Amino acid sequence: MTITQPDLSVFETLESEVRSYCRGWPAVFDRAQGSHMYDEDGHAYLDFFAGAGSLNYGHNNAVLKRALIDYLERDGVTHGLDMSTTAKRAFLESFQNIILRPRDLPYKVMFPGPTGTNAVESALKLARKVKGREAIVSFTNAFHGMSLGSLAVTGNAFKRAGAGIPLVHGTPMPFDNYLDGKTPDFLWFERLLGDQGSGLNTPAAVIVETVQGEGGINVARVEWLRRLAELCKRRDMLLIVDDIQMGCGRTGAFFSFEEAGIVPDIVTVSKSISGYGLPMSLCLFKPELDIWEPGEHNGTFRGNNPAFVTAAAALETYWTDGAAMEKQTLSRGQQIEETLAALREEHSDEIKQYRGRGMVWGAEFRDKSKASAVAKRAFELGLLIETSGPESEVVKLLPALTITPEELDEGLRILARAVRETI
Ligand SMILES: Cc1ncc(COP(=O)(O)O)c(C=O)c1O
Repeated sequence: MTITQPDLSVFETLESEVRSYCRGWPAVFDRAQGSHMYDEDGHAYLDFFAGAGSLNYGHNNAVLKRALIDYLERDGVTHGLDMSTTAKRAFLESFQNIILRPRDLPYKVMFPGPTGTNAVESALKLARKVKGREAIVSFTNAFHGMSLGSLAVTGNAFKRAGAGIPLVHGTPMPFDNYLDGKTPDFLWFERLLGDQGSGLNTPAAVIVETVQGEGGINVARVEWLRRLAELCKRRDMLLIVDDIQMGCGRTGAFFSFEEAGIVPDIVTVSKSISGYGLPMSLCLFKPELDIWEPGEHNGTFRGNNPAFVTAAAALETYWTDGAAMEKQTLSRGQQIEETLAALREEHSDEIKQYRGRGMVWGAEFRDKSKASAVAKRAFELGLLIETSGPESEVVKLLPALTITPEELDEGLRILARAVRETI
């Protein structure tokens, strides 16, 4: 694809230096449909990033769009205070009937604010309030958001440095397979918990991602997750699963922890819950933890009604038959895995490892700078793909769950070409 250099001067002069994704994708986007985005000159880009995982059902999904247009046309409430609305009621009922009840999950639902980090902040706050303790344990390479509480349980040094103040009351422990693969799981954690001289304050909670998305697509084994759940129970710590990126079907089942058969005390959900890229997040918790005072965690944008409309439509369309959705995701995931396996075999000197679950995959490059170079070449060839990992050493594949096998194949071929032409 030949791309004419777009005029980015307005962004470069008026928008803050903090802008980031747009730097890797120098185009001015105008339209988007399904798994494609189009720039203002009409160039099409196949999207393997899906709005950072906020578009599991693709751009401008026709069913969700229809529901949203109908709601707007009849002057449905659009502001976001936590009033009782018909849109919120319909979402809560769908979520209960389609997601929670069939899985025997007893959670109360809290709307903590529109973004993922809002959900994490509320989860940490609630855990601390319930247990009357301030310490939280997180994991190496975790990412939980950019506000101060979330940053305190996030690993990335660059992002942490941006806080400008000490990030306190968070202690990192080794994530699955962080050490040598031989050290018994949770050896260090158990040791600190059991030792009065360790310096670890008894934690209120442990927060974990089942697959670390920003941290480099690090997949926790189900046995590891089960042992973590058991440890939390035994040591009286709440288990928070941050399912903001890996929930809503990304790994197959609706919640990423289902495969491990564990029931976290608190779960954060965001990104694809609205299904349409509209900001929305949830903090779910066991009913006995619901000790909030009314308004103790408040905010103007706590009930994004248009997002409730698309969220309910997404649940009804894709999750009424959750087994079919899961099957499709796992089959597309297999298509990705096979390609990455072949690519790794072809370029084993360059690609250190590939890993993933469901429809989130990563290829780690030995020369860390190569991953960004591959993403850049992929963009030139018409594919939007991002990197992750502490040094951006992993090319990350996060296509919409609804991508067709043909589109997926096309994107994988572009990726393979970008790898060949870069290394
Ligand atoms: C696991 C996880 N938690 C929290 C967040 C923060 O969400 P947001 O960017 O909406 O604040 C992210 C974002 O990537 C995430 O992947």
